[in-house]
Formats: sequence, structure tokens, C-alpha cells
Amino acid sequence: MGFGKFNFLFICALFLLCFISSYYSQFTPADSYSINCGSPTNTTIGNRVFVSDNLASSYLSTPQNVLVDTSANSIPVSEYSQLYSTARIFSQTSSYSFKISQPGRVWIRLYFYPFSASNYDLKSAKFSVSTRDHALLSEFSSGDRLVKEYSVNVTSGDLEIMFTPSGNSFAFLNGLEVVSVPDMLIGDVAASVDHPASFRGLLGQALETVARVNVGGPTVTSRNDSLSRTWVPDSGFLKNPGLVSNVSNVNSVRYPPGGATPDDAPRSVYGTTVRMASETNPKSNFNVTWEFRVDQGFRYLIRLHFCDIVSSAPNQLYFNVYIDDSVVLPDFDLSTIFGGFLATAYFSDFVTPSMNIDRIRISVGPSGLPKVYPNAILNGVEIMKMNNSDGSLSGKDIVVSSKTSKSKVGVIVGVVVGAVVVLLLIFVLFFVYKRRTEQKRLNQSKIWIPLSTNGLSLTMGSKFSNGTTITSGSNYSYRCPFPAIQEATNNFDESGVIGIGGFGKVYKGVLSDGTKVAVKRGNPQSQQGLAEFQTEIEMLSQFRHKHLVSLIGYCDEKNEMILIYEYMEKGTLKSHLYGSNYPSMSWKERVEICIGAARGLHYLHTGYSKAVIHRDVKSANILLDENLMAKVADFGLSKAGPEIDQTHVSTAVKGSFGYLDPEYFRRQQLTEKSDVYSFGVVLFEVLCARPVIDPSLPREMVNLAEWAMKWQKKGQLDHIIDGSLNGKIQPDSLRKFGETAEKCLSDFGVDRPSMGDVLWNLEYVLQLQEAVLQNDTNGNSTNVIGELSPQIHGFNNSGDENLDTNSNTNVGQFEMSSGDDVSGVSMSKVFSQLGKSEGR
Ligand SMILES: *[C@@H]1O[C@H](CO)[C@@H](O)[C@H](O)[C@H]1NC(C)=O
Ligand SMILES: *[C@@H]1O[C@H](CO)[C@@H](O)[C@H](O)[C@H]1NC(C)=O
Ligand SMILES: *[C@@H]1O[C@H](CO)[C@@H](O)[C@H](O)[C@H]1NC(C)=O
Ligand SMILES: *[C@@H]1O[C@H](CO)[C@@H](O)[C@H](O)[C@H]1NC(C)=O
Ligand SMILES: *[C@@H]1O[C@H](CO)[C@@H](O)[C@H](O)[C@H]1NC(C)=O
Ligand SMILES: *[C@@H]1O[C@H](CO)[C@@H](O)[C@H](O)[C@H]1NC(C)=O
Repeated sequence: MGFGKFNFLFICALFLLCFISSYYSQFTPADSYSINCGSPTNTTIGNRVFVSDNLASSYLSTPQNVLVDTSANSIPVSEYSQLYSTARIFSQTSSYSFKISQPGRVWIRLYFYPFSASNYDLKSAKFSVSTRDHALLSEFSSGDRLVKEYSVNVTSGDLEIMFTPSGNSFAFLNGLEVVSVPDMLIGDVAASVDHPASFRGLLGQALETVARVNVGGPTVTSRNDSLSRTWVPDSGFLKNPGLVSNVSNVNSVRYPPGGATPDDAPRSVYGTTVRMASETNPKSNFNVTWEFRVDQGFRYLIRLHFCDIVSSAPNQLYFNVYIDDSVVLPDFDLSTIFGGFLATAYFSDFVTPSMNIDRIRISVGPSGLPKVYPNAILNGVEIMKMNNSDGSLSGKDIVVSSKTSKSKVGVIVGVVVGAVVVLLLIFVLFFVYKRRTEQKRLNQSKIWIPLSTNGLSLTMGSKFSNGTTITSGSNYSYRCPFPAIQEATNNFDESGVIGIGGFGKVYKGVLSDGTKVAVKRGNPQSQQGLAEFQTEIEMLSQFRHKHLVSLIGYCDEKNEMILIYEYMEKGTLKSHLYGSNYPSMSWKERVEICIGAARGLHYLHTGYSKAVIHRDVKSANILLDENLMAKVADFGLSKAGPEIDQTHVSTAVKGSFGYLDPEYFRRQQLTEKSDVYSFGVVLFEVLCARPVIDPSLPREMVNLAEWAMKWQKKGQLDHIIDGSLNGKIQPDSLRKFGETAEKCLSDFGVDRPSMGDVLWNLEYVLQLQEAVLQNDTNGNSTNVIGELSPQIHGFNNSGDENLDTNSNTNVGQFEMSSGDDVSGVSMSKVFSQLGKSEGR
């Protein structure tokens, strides 16, 4: 019955909204210690009891120390005044130890208030603080009251916090907390600020809270935060306070299933924001910027919290988010993330490169999209310093204004209306739980599996010098010893560099058996590079196809990240189109290259149980062998998709400017159709032989995709084609090519053809060119039928007819010539199309 069903859904929705928050505020830390140092009595602050380390002395492993106190009226009023009247002083190395019953991340909070006592001026103290794995503070002295917060992943059963005085000085401490962090709070993966590949490995990082800010609202104290954190107002960080308005609507905040939770940030953070003060000026064009002091030489995890409480309808607010000069969320539209719901809590994580300046700037500003009212928001910011390669967090210490604490906020008890409610609740919790664990598993499943266990088996002759131990046998492991690579590249001789990319340099090399190879050597310092390196090996070891560049081996010895590919004699497609001295290619050659690349992409999209999205299709990633056969390269950004991209960590748009799918831009949803879009841009690039973005041209010509679409829509594409092709393309062939590219560039992915359709259309473009030539007296054309017939396969079968599973393949050899490229297309389709066009 319709009404009953509606009723049920309505109740479900109601309970989703009512109970999710109560579910999450029930987090109870497995381990929780609060200590009031040097105090004779226990102290209650909010819901927390800070126990006296005199009474509970078992935590303190070295009792040679002094208690001091100061008169209560000299202490400035704050949440933690009660901790500040006493301190414990250590004149030699001492430590607190805590039993950790549940391994995982814990917060360590250190409370310092340097008062003057009879024999000690705490301001003169100088000391270091560390755990077994991480230095937290070194040569630290404190001029003012401050709280330091760290979170470290404890894998053993106890946590020891050591205080080491410097020289003849001493250490002091007023308060200390060690408390479990919810597992879900910090994931393993975050987008990289300056790099397309995600940063992985956050779980093992020690973090120090540098800032925790409630943007556009007042201080949120530990009592209003389910994890007892303190959020400070943003006014101290805001660069241009005159340009913003505060907005507050705390009650409208929703925590959607699968999105942020009240543990990520409370309502009082998501429910306040600043917006651009653009209400009266629809031409406003400025950024709102916050600036944070940081230590140089460290990377930082930045968590940005958003909740659109300013829009009245979906798709009103599009804005850009920048970290320093990088745009990290372009044309960001919050309303699309949760299916059009406004006021939903959302956050996004980013990892910066190692900082070489002492500040981080976060800016929001209007998107450049036409017909969008200029506005931008930000609700909250957290900045966390990541440990350096020595495991240390101590730089030159900076004063942190975050004041934090912990308490168990009482469980919010929901209204229980009988057994039905309980059942619904269980259903909801189960759903949320399942979804979260699935997301977690998804993140974890991206951990690199070594190639040898990947079911990869390729038999190749030994390509490396005999001095090194490479066995040629059935289960060739692909892992090459470093000396063999040094030998092949003449010890990475700079004269052999054939390319430089974001990942590192590419060298030409020759293996001991004479095979030419391209050796890509990653910068060992770059963490992001590691993720790409692993993706590339994973991808290339699973996908072997004659139109995908083959991986011959890799090397991960001594922190090296080296990939060895087959050498592609003729370089990139891009270099043949413009900007170098290669002779101009004929139309037939160009279309054949497009067909080859399309075939490689079609295989990626369909040749495997799960579609793989390349994500960086461009003419510079299409390589040509000595016969001008095209192979798609550079799988560093590839993803098995599309579902992986639905987690919050992957929202930073990746790819190359000028080729990016606008829909992916807007919706951050990745599908194969994003590759189709980029490929459409490549088609126009091939036709027009000019860069996809050329800022030196007049405004309307800068972006090739826009420019070419304009002429294509007018039916006058021939006005802008490469001059060397003038008069050499058959009109039908050009028309079909233009139509194909146009369809690829459709605004919406659903309107774009599949890569298989594109491939088929390009085959047809070629036939249209050839068929007419045959009828001409032009003698150098080939016989279409003769060329097609030996290779006919049902194209629609799966497109994987070229799958190279042959275990005897010598990867360096190219058994096919470009003429064979028309293989794999259904003859009947071609001829039915030919027949139709002739009948017109
Ligand atoms: C202080 O707290 C500790 C730990 O909870 C407890 O064992 C002790 O009895 C308390 N002492 C007083 C005087 O309340
Ligand atoms: C702690 O680190 C280990 C190993 O790096 C990881 O498996 C685990 O998930 C981490 N735990 C948390 C809560 O981050
Ligand atoms: C916005 O709110 C913050 C915190 O309540 C306050 O400090 C600031 O002055 C407000 N700014 C404006 C422009 O009203
Ligand atoms: C903090 O919580 C109290 C009730 O517990 C509430 O009255 C107050 O408005 C909250 N403050 C903020 C800033 O949300
Ligand atoms: C906003 O900041 C970014 C990054 O610094 C900059 O590229 C952009 O031009 C700025 N926009 C405006 C309108 O100032
Ligand atoms: C942080 O320290 C851990 C060891 O505790 C280490 O594995 C990791 O690589 C360090 N992080 C960085 C960015 O060096």
C-alpha cells in the first residue's frame, strides 16, 4: 500500500536525522587519563576528573621531582585555570607511563603555565618531551600559558612520555591527558596539495595540532565538543576581515550517513561560517584568506570543514578553495555531494608538501564559472603538523593558540517510542556502520600488493647483465636490481634524459641484450610519487595490451622508485603535432594514431572486470613507436572506478588543465566518460595541431575545446584545421571526425559516447577517407578490404582481442604495423555505414 510505504520511509528519514548524531556522540574512549600535575587533590573540570599524580603516583615512573604552586588569584581565568595552580618539576629525565588497552591513535595533551614559584621561575625551564617513537618538543621553553596537543598511533600496550631537561635546566608540567581518538577520525589517505596523486600513509603519522578554528563563530569550548576539543574563532587568522560577513544557522546542520559526523566537528562549527561580503556587488572578485604560522621543513595535514548554510537552493554556490597558490577544490559545489541537500556537514583533507616558508594560507574565492553569483564560504579549519622522516614533530617551537581538553559529553538519549523504533535504529546504525567499514576497507584495499603475488607471470629472456642475479624463468618477477639499471642508463647520465615530468626524469637506456628502454626515475623524496609509482605498477601489471605502453620492470631498492618501459622511438603524439621538428603527419596517420589510442582506452574501460579510468588522457600521454603505432602511457593517476571516488578524500580534481571534464569538475564524480571528454580534446588537438591551452592567443581562442566546438557547431571546422592538412581531408571524413569529437565533448557524461563507440566512429572516419581515395586516381592509397580482412573479429565481443597474455612475448618487439590497426572492427558495420553515405 502506497501510503504505508511512504510512512515507513518517512519514519526512516526522521530517525536517520534524529539518531545519527546521538549514535556518534556515544564514543567512549577505550583509554582515558587526565592528570593534574603536582596537585595534592583531584580536580574536576567539566565532566573530567584530573587526578592528582600524588594520589595516583603509579603513572609517574621517576619520582625525583618537586611540586610547586602559585596563588590562585594570579592565574588568568580560562577553562583550565584549576590545572594551572600547581606544577611538577623534573630536574632529571623522568616519564609518565600509561597502559593502552586498545592500540590506535591517542591524543596527548600537555598543559603548561609558567608561573614563578619560590625557588623556580618556570619561564626559565628548558626541556624536551618525547615518546618512544617521536620527539614532540625539543629545547622547549614557554613564556606563556599554552596547551600542546599531539596524536600518535600507539601500537604497543603502553605509552611512555619522557621529559628531559636541557643542560642544567629543568622541565615542568601542569597537566597531562592521554585519551583515545576514534579510529574513524583520521583516515589513511588525503589529497595532495601540489600533486595529482593522493597522499597515503596518514595512519602511521604522528600529528601535532597547529590550529583548530571555528570560522565565523565564537570559541567552541571542550564542553560543546563530543571529543573535548576547543575550537578558537578565526578572527586572529583572517587577513581581510572587512571582506566577510558572518552567517550562523546552527540548527540547520545535518550529518548525512557516510558524510561527516559530530565527532569530526560539532554543530556549532558547521553551523557558523563566513561568506564573501558580496551581497551588494554581483561583480565582487576577491579571495577571503586566512594565514597560519607553521614551522618550515614539515608537511601539514589540513582539514577544511564546509556546510552550505548560505544557499536557499542547490547549485547556487560554486567557489574555489586554495591552499597557498594551489586550487584544491575548483568550482566546488557542496550541494551535489549529498544529492542536492543543503546544510550537510562535509570535510576534505589535504596534505601539503614540506613547507619552505613559515606560513600556510587558505583562501576561498568565487569560481570563474559564468552566471554564478560570486560567493564563497568556509566553516572550519584544522591544521596538523606531520612528523618528519626522523619521526620528529619538534621544529623551532611556536606558540599554539589551541586550547584543548577532554570530557565525556553525556550521551544524548533519544526518545524511544517502542520496539519499532529500536528496530529502525538498529537498521540505521547497521547501515551506517556497514558503509563506514566499507569505506575504510576501500581505503585500505588500495595498499600496494607486491607484483609477484599479483598473479603476474611473464617469461622473458634475461635482459640484464650477467653480473646481476636475474633469472629468466617462468615466474619472472619484474623487479630489476639497481646496478643493472645504472648500467643501462650509463649511471643516469644527464645526456640520456628524454623527458621530465612531475614524477621525475625519464632516461633512455639500453639493456645488456640491446633492448632499448625508457627509464623513469622518481624523486625518492616525494611521498606522492610513491603512490603514483605503486598505481602505475599495479595498473601496468594487470593490463597488457598492444596499445598500452608495456612495463618491463621496476626497482624499489634503496628507496628508489624506478619504472622501466619499452622505449617508444617516436616520442609523444603531442611532439608530432606542434612544438618540435617532426614532419607534419598525414590525415591517415593521425586518424590511425587516434584509433590506436582509442583502442587502448577502450580496453582499459572494458577489458577487465572493473572499468579502469585513466584520468590523464592527453596528447603527451600517447606515445608512438617507430611505426607510429600509438600506445597510451602514464597510469599514475588511474583508478578502478567509479565508486572509489565517492569517499571524501578523493574530491580534489586531478588531471591536466585543458583536458578536464567539466562535469568531473562540477560534480567530482569520476566515470569513464571523463576519459572520453579528454580524448575528444585530443581529437581536436590532432586536427588543429595547436596546444589545448594557449594563453598567447586572443581570449576566445585560448581554450581549444571551446574554440573548436564553436566552429564545429557552425559546421565550419575546416576553417581552423592544421594548415598542412588543407585540402587533404575528405569532407565526409572531416565531418564524421568533427561529430565524433563534438559528442565526446558533450557537457554531460551520459550524452557522450563510450570509448567503443568512439573507436568505431574513428574506424569509419578512416574508411571515409580511404574509400574516396580508392575511387580517385590517387595511387598511393591501400585497398580497404585487403587491409581489413585478415583481422576481422566481432568488435562488440569485448574489445580485448589484443590482450597480450602470450607468455613468450618479447616486450620490446612490435609485431604489428600501423596498417594492422584497423583490426577488430565489424565489417558489416563499416559497410552498412559506407552504403548509407553513398546512398545520400
Ligand atoms: C582521585 O582519583 C583517583 C582516580 O580516579 C581515585 O582512585 C582516588 O580515590 C581519587 N582521590 C580522591 C581523594 O578523590
Ligand atoms: C596505527 O598504525 C598501524 C600501522 O601503521 C595501522 O595499521 C593502524 O590502522 C593505525 N591505527 C590508527 C587508529 O590509525
Ligand atoms: C564574526 O564572528 C566572530 C566571532 O564571533 C567575531 O569575532 C567577528 O567580529 C565577526 N565578524 C563580523 C564581520 O561580524
Ligand atoms: C554550548 O552548549 C550549551 C549547552 O550545553 C549551549 O547553551 C551553548 O549555546 C553552546 N555553545 C555553543 C557555542 O554552541
Ligand atoms: C585567489 O587566490 C589564488 C591563489 O593565490 C589566486 O590564484 C587567485 O587569482 C586569487 N583570486 C582573486 C580573485 O584574487
Ligand atoms: C613519520 O614517522 C613514521 C615512523 O614513526 C615514519 O614511518 C614516517 O615515514 C614519518 N613520516 C614522514 C613524512 O617522514
